[in-house]
Amino acid sequence: MNKVALITGSSRGLGRQIALEFAKKGYNVVINFKNEENKAQEVSQIIESEYGVSTLIIKADISDEQEVKNMIELIKDKFEKLDVLVNNAGIANDSPFFDKTKSDFLKVYETNLVGPFLCAKYASQIMDESSSIINISSTNADNTHYPYSADYDASKAALISLTNNLAVELAPIRVNAVLPGWINTEMNQDLDSEYIKEECNKILLKRFADVTEIAKVVVFLCSPDASYINKSTITVDGGYYG
Ligand SMILES: NC(=O)c1ccc[n+]([C@@H]2O[C@H](COP(=O)([O-])OP(=O)(O)OC[C@H]3O[C@@H](n4cnc5c(N)ncnc54)[C@H](OP(=O)(O)O)[C@@H]3O)[C@@H](O)[C@H]2O)c1
Repeated sequence: MNKVALITGSSRGLGRQIALEFAKKGYNVVINFKNEENKAQEVSQIIESEYGVSTLIIKADISDEQEVKNMIELIKDKFEKLDVLVNNAGIANDSPFFDKTKSDFLKVYETNLVGPFLCAKYASQIMDESSSIINISSTNADNTHYPYSADYDASKAALISLTNNLAVELAPIRVNAVLPGWINTEMNQDLDSEYIKEECNKILLKRFADVTEIAKVVVFLCSPDASYINKSTITVDGGYYG
């Protein structure tokens, strides 16, 4: 039976590409989304027609415990097990530091930190010893000099701490964090072009990453070739030195 990968937030952006890369490797793929059903269906169609594996599309808000529980039940019903969980879904809410409210801050935390905790807690119950979990953190976790994203940066730093505790609690399931730098996705579509230019100048490779350059690292980390990489943080940022 094919292996099964759940990628949260795989209707678009990085998650979409991670879903495609796992499908290329013969995994059945669970596509999770919150709002963009059409985009999730498009990903499913590409995967089933081009790679001949099965998909399951699940609408679930990862910050809602009952919705996460239901998602894992649906996966169990269709595939009986899960081999890979990629906690990819995340939000950013850039705004001036003093404009941020407690509820703005909590919303980012609930999606970027509590969501991965809930997904790992319930998904691990249908995973076996050879399974793997990847948390998509960010270089913002330790490179924090942008108060507009104080909430996002703190959530991504906390996700590294959660990665360490999950690795201890769930061993021998391997749990690792990937820290991408800038990626070309919708999350960055509103950035000022001058700011993008300045940031590219702080990257040795002088450009943002393509989604495939992060997605392939995630797939590698879940493969038998990475069988001794555990409780690690892997930075993929083109050599940022800002
Ligand atoms: N882009 C970057 O430069 C960058 C850099 C470092 C790290 N990252 C991290 O990489 C991950 C993916 O980022 P991206 O740039 O691909 O983001 P994106 O293009 O904005 O896509 C976000 C995805 O997450 C889903 N999502 C958001 N909230 C959700 C929730 N509560 N429950 C379920 N799904 C939810 C969205 O679903 P819908 O389509 O249904 O709304 C969408 O599929 C995030 O964790 C982000 O923090 C990104």
